[in-house]
Amino acid sequence: MNTDRSNEKEVALVFGGSRGIGAAAVRRLSYDGFSVGFTYVSRPDSAQHVVDAVAADGGHALAVQADSADAAAIRQAVEKVATHFGRLDVVVINAGVLRLGTIDTFTLEDLDQVLQVNVRGVYVAIQAAVARMGGDGRIITIGSNSAVRPLTPAGTVYGMSKAAVAAMVKGLALELAPRGIRVNNIQPGPIRTDMTAEHIERIKDMVPLKQVGETEDIAELVSYLAGASSRYMTGSSLTIDGGMAL
Ligand SMILES: NC(=O)c1ccc[n+]([C@@H]2O[C@H](COP(=O)([O-])OP(=O)(O)OC[C@H]3O[C@@H](n4cnc5c(N)ncnc54)[C@H](OP(=O)(O)O)[C@@H]3O)[C@@H](O)[C@H]2O)c1
Repeated sequence: MNTDRSNEKEVALVFGGSRGIGAAAVRRLSYDGFSVGFTYVSRPDSAQHVVDAVAADGGHALAVQADSADAAAIRQAVEKVATHFGRLDVVVINAGVLRLGTIDTFTLEDLDQVLQVNVRGVYVAIQAAVARMGGDGRIITIGSNSAVRPLTPAGTVYGMSKAAVAAMVKGLALELAPRGIRVNNIQPGPIRTDMTAEHIERIKDMVPLKQVGETEDIAELVSYLAGASSRYMTGSSLTIDGGMAL
């Protein structure tokens, strides 16, 4: 078994770390001194690019293919990363899918996919992670500002999935506080990634600050929530969206 215990670095696992916000979180956590495992589902090329970028910066990342719609795959990913690095301290659950559509046409397949990845996948990932964490564990979810306020009539299902994450975080923060595990949620507004590429320039005008966010803006908050500076914070949802959901 390939087990790397050559140092006492803390270990982070990012679900959905091959592109966009997740990839920025992987790189930032590595910069902060973590050994980082991350999952991807369909883009081994992007995953390898992240592994290489972390290595070029002097860090160590491990990519694991695991579909967040598949509970067994999620559990295996946690096991693989915790075993490879010898511990697990921080988990970022970023893997998520966006399906837009109004109620007359929204398909059951899309409904199931959104709920399976964005809600069930988040819960299962946390369940698997806390079984491997000691006290002082930190769980960070990536929700959305669409949990705060509907931003388009086509975003109902996506928004309800992210509102479920915010509620989940409050409940689990209460459950896990006695064990010293903190659980917090980041709610981004429009961030320039593959997910938003089609709409991003149009969305910019809807943001009070008249700009869209970059992945590094979210990675900065991930870094804060993963570190000791946020030691008194749990159960919070931090919205970062240029004022869009006000
Ligand atoms: N971008 C925004 O404006 C925005 C705003 C609010 C919230 N968010 C949330 O932020 C998170 C990341 O968004 P993004 O814009 O960075 O997305 P993205 O550019 O589409 O990247 C998605 C990442 O998640 C992975 N992923 C997708 N489905 C997965 C699955 N079933 N299992 C495992 N991994 C999966 C992808 O892996 P592959 O590379 O293998 O496909 C990729 O690494 C999502 O939860 C999204 O809802 C984004």
